[in-house]
Amino acid sequence: MKILLLGRNGQVGWELQRSLAPLGQVLGLDSRSRDYCGDLADLAGLGATLRSYAPDVIVNAAAYTAVDKAESEPEQAFRVNAEAVSVLAHYAAASGALLVHYSTDYVFPGQGTEPWREGNPTGPLNVYGESKLAGEQAILVAGCAHLILRTSWVYAARGNNFARTMLRLASERETLGVIDDQFGAPTSAELIADVSAHAIVAARRDPALSGVYHLAAAGETSWCGYARFVLQQASARGVVLKVLAEQVNALTTEAYPTPAKRPANSRLNTQKLQEAFALVLPDWRLGVARMLTEIHEK
Ligand SMILES: NC(=O)c1ccc[n+]([C@@H]2O[C@H](COP(=O)([O-])OP(=O)(O)OC[C@H]3O[C@@H](n4cnc5c(N)ncnc54)[C@H](OP(=O)(O)O)[C@@H]3O)[C@@H](O)[C@H]2O)c1
Repeated sequence: MKILLLGRNGQVGWELQRSLAPLGQVLGLDSRSRDYCGDLADLAGLGATLRSYAPDVIVNAAAYTAVDKAESEPEQAFRVNAEAVSVLAHYAAASGALLVHYSTDYVFPGQGTEPWREGNPTGPLNVYGESKLAGEQAILVAGCAHLILRTSWVYAARGNNFARTMLRLASERETLGVIDDQFGAPTSAELIADVSAHAIVAARRDPALSGVYHLAAAGETSWCGYARFVLQQASARGVVLKVLAEQVNALTTEAYPTPAKRPANSRLNTQKLQEAFALVLPDWRLGVARMLTEIHEK
């Protein structure tokens, strides 16, 4: 099986390099790759890569993910998140390849408290969400075999992430305030990559599994709850902090304005994915605790 992995150095892309390796021959590209074009903003170059490598499976972990910047750069966001995805989808439709693509809970309007199901009406609140929804629609229009995996609140041990930022701020500052009225489930890039590999094997065996799925860790929290969990785990490991978990102030979204509006409800109902692929998604705390162990053992 020939697999083309786009966005190999992102949070999810990096973990996919590991999880896809046992499935076949993987060509991983990033926007600066030389032998093959891996720049999703270069639609002609992307098309040439597809024709030349002729993958059986395309895994697209590349995306314009700068949520606030997208408000002032809608053309770039749509080019990478929608137009490039359309190129991938049309190639997949014509060649019979499977397209695995990642999307987001930001396609939903974010109200209420019920976890979103795949079939709920969409209604993005910001440009990033609109561009990601347009990417999903491009895949459906092209009619290729696909797995669209909508996820939320992604983190990875590698690089900067929310947990590292909280640990740094809690060791530098006297006070710390974190938003407490947006809810979701922190989901590790490791989990997304492992589930993706499993789903690819299953979808290649059974094309009827083609579809949209929600993929997130189990349970829910707010950003403030997430921060408190991180600091509590750090204290338990003997890390000295100026701000302790119980001293983190709960903020409202209104008190922390950003260029892009964020949904209050990022909860995703993952029942469809768990049943279709016979998987169990672990509680978010397991993955975050594991990441903190990796950070503190370095
Ligand atoms: N992060 C989240 O909380 C979150 C939540 C829900 C859904 N998702 C979705 O999950 C997927 C993976 O996200 P992630 O967290 O792994 O994102 P990430 O860490 O920001 O990685 C995105 C990757 O895309 C690459 N990229 C950007 N523009 C590109 C271009 N023109 N050509 C080629 N590559 C380009 C970036 O490479 P450069 O840095 O070199 O540009 C980066 O490696 C995305 O589809 C995202 O929309 C993420």
